[in-house]
Amino acid sequence: MHITFLGHAGFVVETAGAIVVMDPWLSSRGAFDSAWMQLPCNHHLAPRVREMLETPGKERYLYVSHEHKDHFDPEFLATIRQRDFTVLVPRFHRSELQDVFARYGCKQVIACEDGHEVPIKGGYVKLFVSEQGTNRDSAVMVRGDGQCFLNINDCKLHDRMGRIVAEEGPIDVFSAQFSGAIWHPTCYEYPADTYAAISLKKRESKFEAVARTLEVLHPRAYIAAAGPAAFLDPAQFHLNFEKVNIFPNATQLFAFLRQRLPQGKTRYLEPMPGDVLDAKSLEFVSQSAERVTPENLKAYLHDYAKRQESVFRERRRNLLVAEVAEIHERLRVELQRKLDLLDLHERVGMPLYVELTELPEKLLRVDFKARRVHVVADIQEEVRYTLKTSAADVGRVLDRKLTWEDFLLSFRLRLSRNPDVYEPVLHGFLGVEIEDMREFCEGIRSTESQRERTVVEAGGRRFSIQRFCPHQGADLSEGWVEEGRYLVCPRHRWQFDLDAGGVCTQNTSTLCAELLPEREQEKPQTPAADPQPQL
Ligand code: FES
Repeated sequence: MHITFLGHAGFVVETAGAIVVMDPWLSSRGAFDSAWMQLPCNHHLAPRVREMLETPGKERYLYVSHEHKDHFDPEFLATIRQRDFTVLVPRFHRSELQDVFARYGCKQVIACEDGHEVPIKGGYVKLFVSEQGTNRDSAVMVRGDGQCFLNINDCKLHDRMGRIVAEEGPIDVFSAQFSGAIWHPTCYEYPADTYAAISLKKRESKFEAVARTLEVLHPRAYIAAAGPAAFLDPAQFHLNFEKVNIFPNATQLFAFLRQRLPQGKTRYLEPMPGDVLDAKSLEFVSQSAERVTPENLKAYLHDYAKRQESVFRERRRNLLVAEVAEIHERLRVELQRKLDLLDLHERVGMPLYVELTELPEKLLRVDFKARRVHVVADIQEEVRYTLKTSAADVGRVLDRKLTWEDFLLSFRLRLSRNPDVYEPVLHGFLGVEIEDMREFCEGIRSTESQRERTVVEAGGRRFSIQRFCPHQGADLSEGWVEEGRYLVCPRHRWQFDLDAGGVCTQNTSTLCAELLPEREQEKPQTPAADPQPQL
């Protein structure tokens, strides 16, 4: 088995009988309205990947893990002319990927349920699907030539790793995301030290998740992938050089892992785009001449930004006053439509103020309780959420060139909140498309309706808690305890304080933890007793 790294989360896995191309993000305009560019640059690999998919011979598969544009690159895929290969996509409730590929004209599209196995010569390709409300992702495993590659990219499967390895057997090469990919705290107004502290905590938590997965899987090699993007828009270029943020490099991850897992036997690899790894010997059979290192990164990024200048020149546009006014009104209508579909609106106890930088005297105030969006001149409350962006940037969402989530991931906005507490319904209101709003609310309700309980041990005591995380339903019996009192969810690593009734340390969610009397034998919980997790 040969594994070619394509950059970011992209791979080509080649076995004796098949070629599987995974998440090829190769187009020279990057993703999220060009806010993210591949790091290192991999645009030169596009012709090679096209050729691999177009050349007859072995069975050929294209796998796309989820809809995020740093994984699903319609611009690159449109350049492939010969489409007699099979597309593998996860079967989500939202059928966007399936619909796109149904029109794509390839040989076959297989929409895979969780655990769906596609036989290939001498092995199989298997998809693992994770879907919680509007949070959709998948992972892929290829077994062939006697080796196994598991690529979970950004997919939050951490609470299922034990079962996967028990069912599938040993993993030779494993790959998972190690860098942040979210707009918090990047887009939030924080004092510098708070920003650094939040970033550091998130970064360490991400590293810890990788370490724990390696402890469960014991792969022979780990490939650091889906790392930070390059931010080459002149307005965002500084993000590349912040002292501490949620975008660490692989060198920092490996230093953490060596300290955290001193006995670990896994080999840590940071390939460059185009490098080819032999999965049996774990040697690179071919390596790209260009190597990006922490030492040459700064010069590399300056040079890269110069080469991409035209992308940002093209997208810059000054709007006329009338155009700004029109976008302002369209935005008001869009927010009102979202609000009308937000069944859980009453849960949001603070208003959201949206400001267009070109029109600061006309704020849009989203009143969740009264379910209306109206125009005001000033912010009236201390307790509030704010969003500031330009009409030109948000206009692309209204023109359906970007989804709301793509827009948030473009980082072309500033946010603030008081108090500084994550509010899941408001978060969803911002990031979810109009047509997904009801499903989003149903997802929250369905997570909340999971009443099963389990028992955990912490600091020598035993607690009865809700088994499934109130955030997105991860199995907390696969979590771990820190400092003898904080239960950590394995999926997004929220911390729940068992000494405070199981309340989350970042927001008001709770596990409804109850301290069990000493020596009490484990009693059946509702609806059934669970094995006591080893935490
Ligand atoms: S599922 Fe997200 S923190 Fe638990």
